[in-house]
Amino acid sequence: MAIANGKGGVGKTSTATALAGLAAAAGYNILLIDLDPQGNVGEDLGYTGAGLGDEGAGIVNALVTGTPLAISVPQAREHVDVISGGERLDDLAGLLLARHSRGNEVSSVLAGPLAALLDTADYDLVIIDCPPGEPNLQLLALGAARWLIIPTRGDAASLKGMSRIAQRMVEARSSNPSLELLGVVLFDIASSATRMKRMITEQIEEALGGVAPLFENSIRHSISAMDARGRGMLVHEYAAQLEGEPFWQALREGRRPSSPGSAPALAGDYASLAHEILTRISTLESESAPAGVA
Ligand SMILES: Nc1ncnc2c1ncn2[C@@H]1O[C@H](COP(=O)(O)OP(=O)(O)OP(=O)(O)O)[C@@H](O)[C@H]1O
Ligand SMILES: [Mg+2]
Repeated sequence: MAIANGKGGVGKTSTATALAGLAAAAGYNILLIDLDPQGNVGEDLGYTGAGLGDEGAGIVNALVTGTPLAISVPQAREHVDVISGGERLDDLAGLLLARHSRGNEVSSVLAGPLAALLDTADYDLVIIDCPPGEPNLQLLALGAARWLIIPTRGDAASLKGMSRIAQRMVEARSSNPSLELLGVVLFDIASSATRMKRMITEQIEEALGGVAPLFENSIRHSISAMDARGRGMLVHEYAAQLEGEPFWQALREGRRPSSPGSAPALAGDYASLAHEILTRISTLESESAPAGVA
């Protein structure tokens, strides 16, 4: 599954890491790939602060030499292995650009090394977090994915970014015909804003040419998302910590007591969204499975 939008700051990384963490907590084996030179997955999971991760060097090496991808941060959480991103991926963007300008297809470059890794490992779900720019890096992800999820805010620029990624999806389909749009996630929006949701749905349908499988569950605006990332924690982990801490604990340790605020509600949004995403995948994949295959 690729998580992408041609616009920055629309919740791609937050959705990728929350979904990875929640699905893993539910018992799925997850591989999370960070294809972004910004490497923000490492902030959400806290491994950058711990000095782990290779800034994307392993991805570059595998794609240049055509060898299997390798895990760079094993067990970032229980049941979550990570292939880390970071500034080394800038080298890859340049190499792919050269390849593209020589008329070679870019979209199939990741699929081989990823398939080689998946032959030797047992993952239920692979989640790829994409960068907002770097069309060639986005194409790599779309060339390897079965499903695309597009998170978007409700503003015009995010919707424009969405139509850019839709065009890229059409391009990637020439080498990866099984790629489909799983759905669109509304990010940083009030859950009660039904009129606004309807308006955005119409705009999404326009941007994507008629098909807009919008997820019912959206992600609310909440400052606790920043607090969680600042601590290298996923939102549901942060919410659980705040809710589980006796009120006197902070006082005893000389810290300022903080109330759970909106963290549990935000974690609830991600849990509902994760459930909707996993259910939709399982429904669609069982519909498309050949007869006789469970
Ligand atoms: N629920 C939320 N409400 C408001 N702001 C949020 C929320 N969740 C995350 N943010 C903030 O929004 C910003 C973008 O989030 P995120 O990094 O997930 O988006 P992105 O699409 O991956 O961005 P980029 O394009 O830079 O990779 C971050 O600064 C984050 O702290
Ligand atoms: Mg990001």
